[in-house]
Amino acid sequence: MNNAVSEGLVLAVDQGTTSTRALLVDADCRVVTAAQVEHRQHFPRPGWVEHDADEIWANTRTVIADALDRAGCGPAELAAVGITNQRETVVVWDRRSGRSIHRAIVWQDTRTEQSCRQLAGPAGPDRYRSRTGLPLSTYVSAPKIRWILDHVPGAREAAERGDLAAGTIDSWLVWNLTGGVDGGLHVTDVTNASRTMLMDLATVDWDADLAAELGVPLGVLPDIRASSGVVAHGHRDGPLPGVPVGGILGDQQAALFGQARFAPGEAKGTYGTGAFVLLNTGSDPVPSKHGLITTVAYQCHGHDPVYALEGSIAVTGALVQWLRDNLGIIQRAEEVEVLARQVDDNGGVYVVPAFSGLFAPHWRPDARGTIVGLTRYADRRHLARAALEATALQIGDVLEAMRTDTGLDLRELPVDGGMAANDLLLQIQADQLGIPVVRPENVETTAMGAAYAAGLAVGIWSDLDTLRRRWRAGARFPPTRDLTWRLEQRDTWRAAVSRSLNWTG
Ligand code: G3P
Repeated sequence: MNNAVSEGLVLAVDQGTTSTRALLVDADCRVVTAAQVEHRQHFPRPGWVEHDADEIWANTRTVIADALDRAGCGPAELAAVGITNQRETVVVWDRRSGRSIHRAIVWQDTRTEQSCRQLAGPAGPDRYRSRTGLPLSTYVSAPKIRWILDHVPGAREAAERGDLAAGTIDSWLVWNLTGGVDGGLHVTDVTNASRTMLMDLATVDWDADLAAELGVPLGVLPDIRASSGVVAHGHRDGPLPGVPVGGILGDQQAALFGQARFAPGEAKGTYGTGAFVLLNTGSDPVPSKHGLITTVAYQCHGHDPVYALEGSIAVTGALVQWLRDNLGIIQRAEEVEVLARQVDDNGGVYVVPAFSGLFAPHWRPDARGTIVGLTRYADRRHLARAALEATALQIGDVLEAMRTDTGLDLRELPVDGGMAANDLLLQIQADQLGIPVVRPENVETTAMGAAYAAGLAVGIWSDLDTLRRRWRAGARFPPTRDLTWRLEQRDTWRAAVSRSLNWTG
């Protein structure tokens, strides 16, 4: 092993919407090496988004090997591995061949809109909210599993026979890491299970009635485990032989954990493909009346689950990618900041990126993207600025919902994720919120969360307080605008959002 690498290495695998990463973290919470591979995005029809689960598993093997190689160490030197993943995305695979029977249906996919509407019936999208914390929407996993079972010939019969397994990406990776067809373990953790609409939030167990109503046989589902705790060891023929699998968390919950937001009332915001604000609400699931999701934040083995309120926004970074890939107004994602800085304001332009409908707090799959306020004056610089503002304004909407649901006023917002490198975005965000936005020194919070969960399980770190003491602020962005400015911005934004919600007139 490379001499610079200290004892107690933990591997974090972060399987996200656009790429798969592996990071080696040492006992001092430093990232030692990292490797990353992107996977293909499939858009077979408008609104459909798919990933190839076999490609994702192959990429996972590649990044694990690369991260270990770069550190000059082998799996035997790892204390544990933690898995974190894009949530809600589902894989259904054949337990005998080990192959997925359909491409994974991604969280952003809207193909289940019709079946969600039918399931909601006269009760509306909140039909299962009190049990699951979720609105019945295309976002959650269960309708996607049902779609695969109903559309792949013979799948439902195979599922009833016990030949198929289903799960979120964490389940797929752990099953493969622990042997796949040779006795792989079919598990998930409470955070991922809480996104399926099949888990009862109070019991943190599958709800048989719900599974029957939503058309998902219980037999295809994994066992639900704590987020931090050793569930199994890597299979002898896999990439991590003998390594304890000590942590599994959905990526947004992992970011909350990696930001050390362990106390009720603490929140974080992550800017990725979408953006997700999670507020730790402690040992009680807090119901939302204002369009937020109630979810499990994490559970440490032997302890009660900790819950969170979440504001999920489908499109933020994906809007920047769209400016790059579909409009070609930038070459690289980072250029959005350079361009947006060339103007002092948005020139009256607002972009509502409702590419997958609008998630929190609206939950309207029929909403569509709109650009309003165009004049001959507006150019690509104003569009770039409006794209950053759309991110900040959507976060503003979910924080307001949180305030109304809980009566709690956040004093600051710690942020992370790819777009948190954008200083202009964070300044706009602070101005829109009227509170400081703080970027931690270590911005790899999602991977850190997975590493922390796994490291806690095997004793690399003794407790949550130890991890909390490791958190350091990096850059701080205090607000520079007054309330009148904020309210004006918000009102115009809301007018734009209402166009997006009612675009057919
Ligand atoms: O709920 C979806 C979320 O987990 C996706 O996160 O970072 O992979 O875009 P990300």
